[in-house]
Amino acid sequence: MSNKSNNTSPHSSLHYDVVIIGSGAAGLSCALQLADLGSIAVLSKGPLPEGSTLYAQGGIAAVLDGEDSIASHVSDTLIAGADLCDQQVVEFTVSHSREAINWLISNGVKFSRSDDNQYHLTQEGGHSHRRIIHSADSTGHEVQTTLVDAVKNKPSIDLFEQHNAIDILTENDSSANKKPTSHCYGIYVLNKESDEVDVFQSRFVILATGGASKVYLYTSNPDVASGDGIALAWRAGCSVANLEFNQFHPTCLFHPQANNFLITEAIRGEGGLLKRPDGSRFMDEFHPKAELAPRDIVARAIDHEMKRLGTDCMYLDISHREDDFIKEHFPTIYQRCLNLGIDITKEPIPIVPAAHYTCGGVKVDITGKTDVDGLYAVGEVAYTGLHGANRMASNSLLECLVFAKSVSDDIRKRWNQNAVLPEAKPWDSSRVTDSDEEVVVHHNWHELRRLMWNYMGIVRSNKRLERAERRIELLQQEIREYYKNFHITSDLLELRNLVMVAELMVRCAKQRHESRGLHFTLDYPNRDESLDGIPTVITPPKL
Ligand code: FAD
Ligand code: SIN
Repeated sequence: MSNKSNNTSPHSSLHYDVVIIGSGAAGLSCALQLADLGSIAVLSKGPLPEGSTLYAQGGIAAVLDGEDSIASHVSDTLIAGADLCDQQVVEFTVSHSREAINWLISNGVKFSRSDDNQYHLTQEGGHSHRRIIHSADSTGHEVQTTLVDAVKNKPSIDLFEQHNAIDILTENDSSANKKPTSHCYGIYVLNKESDEVDVFQSRFVILATGGASKVYLYTSNPDVASGDGIALAWRAGCSVANLEFNQFHPTCLFHPQANNFLITEAIRGEGGLLKRPDGSRFMDEFHPKAELAPRDIVARAIDHEMKRLGTDCMYLDISHREDDFIKEHFPTIYQRCLNLGIDITKEPIPIVPAAHYTCGGVKVDITGKTDVDGLYAVGEVAYTGLHGANRMASNSLLECLVFAKSVSDDIRKRWNQNAVLPEAKPWDSSRVTDSDEEVVVHHNWHELRRLMWNYMGIVRSNKRLERAERRIELLQQEIREYYKNFHITSDLLELRNLVMVAELMVRCAKQRHESRGLHFTLDYPNRDESLDGIPTVITPPKL
């Protein structure tokens, strides 16, 4: 937990051409694409490399093999997305996949090669070809560290670690012959080291804050994934979409000392089998593609078998492959498991599903524009229409790269348009005091994550969603009160955002009266085909 902030004056007011909130694949790619244009600030609320990107394992989906085709990648994505993807967005993303990979390679990213020196392509659930380019089983580490090195070499990019974005500054923009809109002109930011609130002023703000899986008790995600960008955008007046679709990764390591450790789907792509505690297989009872069925189906099947048998975990077994193959392809997982006393070349790995990816997010168009002029969203924070009701494995890093380019192209086009920005008011902390009960933040954080796991998890029902809604409303009241009266801390900001996102997730789930992809509810167990292609969109009330 962080120290208490006094949020004292004087604050700094900094001016940039573009402010990017987030330093994962999405944020750093935008920064590099825009570096030649003007001054760029990149903010991260922890150390620069920290975020989901750093932990990505499997790789990046792209059409790179002569036997593969754009049509096949598009079709697999549409099927995994359960007829809820935006086909135009899928085609756009996939057709830029080769270009995105070449861009990474030109920035120095090294991908694994086969014995014939060609890039090695692995396979994951839902893909009908080998099309996942990767760096052994630590692709994210290779991508993130390379991009971090690249931004550090650009004089036009200033990097602000330990800076937590609080809220977006917007101004209404209405004239008699124009429908009312608003535009953004900067953000308030808590500098976690000085405990001051600074103002970053800018004509363009890019949200690249990642997902919200921290809203669940069990997750594969790092702590920074607290849905901040979704909450910031909502408070600024942006629509959000499809937040009922939270992806649960089927295979996270089940071990008391393993914190959020993922076991990549590529293990199943290379022949890994899912087994019950008695060693029998079960996935072929649930889907013709068995272990390589789309992720929602595998996670639900594991959850079903665990509940049916009353066991704490299921098992993933790759021990039938050669030892050298396992050690070469999965060195990180091999070592991590071995450190915990599990030799994956000889025995199965205990696994459980855990919250992994936020398929919905801030609604954007194909250029990454939100409803607020000058405000963009890219990466896991955004809802582009690519993933529909279930993201296909390894399509998300691809989305970060392709949409970072789209956002940057759009900003480039608008660069010379004139804009006069209002001067931002300094942060006002004159009416708040130090909190005397910090325990409230701790307690509510745990309560929220547990209730979301229990009532808004892999299997839902009307009753569970109503229970979640009632409890979230109480938490909202308490947190609003607390925020109004006390100095802010980083933990309080995260909790405030997380509870906002939880409310939006439950609202989206309550609106969808069917089961589709990642949203499965006992009260509407079937798909309603009249809802094909129709996302759940919710819009904040006008102030
Ligand atoms: P992130 O990389 O999460 O970065 C978010 C950034 O925002 C961080 O810098 C954070 O500090 C910053 N931030 C957040 N809130 C604030 C705030 N309020 N103020 C300032 N900064 C803020 N996808 C694939 O395609 N292939 C894979 O193999 C794969 N494997 C995965 C394995 C794991 C364990 C996980 C967790 C995810 C995996 N994914 C994979 C998903 C993929 O990694 C993420 O969707 C993607 O990396 C998200 O990138 P991003 O840039 O949007 O966000
Ligand atoms: C994995 O390696 O299984 C994760 C891939 C992804 O989430 O896209």
